[in-house]
Amino acid sequence: MSAPPFTILVIPGDGIGREVIPAAVAVLQATGLPLRFAEADAGWECFQRSGEALPPETLAAARTADAVLFGAVASPSHPVAGYRSPIVRLRRELDLYANIRPVFDDPPHADDPRARRVDLVVVRENTEDLYAGRERVEDGGATAIAERVITRRASERIARVAFELARARRAARNTNDAPPAKVTIVHKANVLRETCGLFRAVALEVAQAYPDVQTDEMLVDTCALQLATRPERFDVIVTTNLFGDILSDVACAWGGGLGLASSANLGEQHALFEPVHGAAPDIAGKGIANPLAAIGCAALLLDHLARRAPPDIAPAIHAWSARIQHAIRHVRAAGPHTPDLGGNAVTSEVTDAVIAHMLTS
Ligand code: NAI
Ligand code: MG
Repeated sequence: MSAPPFTILVIPGDGIGREVIPAAVAVLQATGLPLRFAEADAGWECFQRSGEALPPETLAAARTADAVLFGAVASPSHPVAGYRSPIVRLRRELDLYANIRPVFDDPPHADDPRARRVDLVVVRENTEDLYAGRERVEDGGATAIAERVITRRASERIARVAFELARARRAARNTNDAPPAKVTIVHKANVLRETCGLFRAVALEVAQAYPDVQTDEMLVDTCALQLATRPERFDVIVTTNLFGDILSDVACAWGGGLGLASSANLGEQHALFEPVHGAAPDIAGKGIANPLAAIGCAALLLDHLARRAPPDIAPAIHAWSARIQHAIRHVRAAGPHTPDLGGNAVTSEVTDAVIAHMLTS
């Protein structure tokens, strides 16, 4: 991480990526923090123009930036020679091993002051498991086999991310009666004794170093049910790649849908922030995409910079992240809303409302 100003590489990509990423950049610029923006090309239109979905200069700029803000890329529905998804490649090239998806629901409307809102994060290992790509067929195609790869190294580093995050979230809650930090280790070690067994054992080992964080564990099927019925019981969930892929989408249902779902991809050296949604060709160009998911990425990005910033400016960066998140909650509750949330506002009205709230609250 360089000294401030921090360099943020902006890759809008295709479709509504080019509408929501400028909104997120406008929010970041409105903070007045020492941020420098560079823009780079990637995606399907880039491929059609240049023959490269992820030009080498984009990858090089991503390697030297302090953080990457990525919009979305369109992928053709039919295979095209030479085209590979740039986001999958970026995750691998930058070794972005931790996929982080926060989910929070609307502020509670109930009069019951004890009503607790959903406020959880799924921390998903992003590099191995069944997604390691070790698949083959035998018996002339009658049997298909996928190998599940779980390593101590990957399990340890993802567990560490989860416990650090739980600790930081507890600190940010900043009240004495806030619930304690909690990490739920999710696995299926009763059946997958070696692979899930290793993940579970390593995560429990890491937990020893965080006595201030409550640790529990849960089988993945139980977790799916609990996420659907009692999501408020979770704080941070840590799990392997495939389970995390599925559970993070279950959790997403509480978060107001795709227009609000943000994610971070973190590694030791690099960090990339992207809305979960795609290029949305059905609404692209109409100016009605919900920018809140991308703006949520801006808040996650600032949290990341704050963790690496010199101590004299880290608190200010953190405070802006919190202000942006409060503004998102406010706009989500009070409007204006884009059509996906039932309103008729355009992207810029929602963005302006977020900026106005974060500058005055
Ligand atoms: P999508 O997320 O683009 O759209 C699904 C539905 O949600 C559409 O009706 C869309 O209008 C709506 N939607 C998504 N984001 C929205 C927002 N911010 N505001 C309002 N409405 C929103 O997924 P879909 O349609 O399956 O894929 C479209 C293209 O995007 C494909 O080419 C696909 O490959 C690509 N894609 C890219 C991703 C990425 O870059 N990480 C992720 C998912 C899809
Ligand atoms: Mg998924």
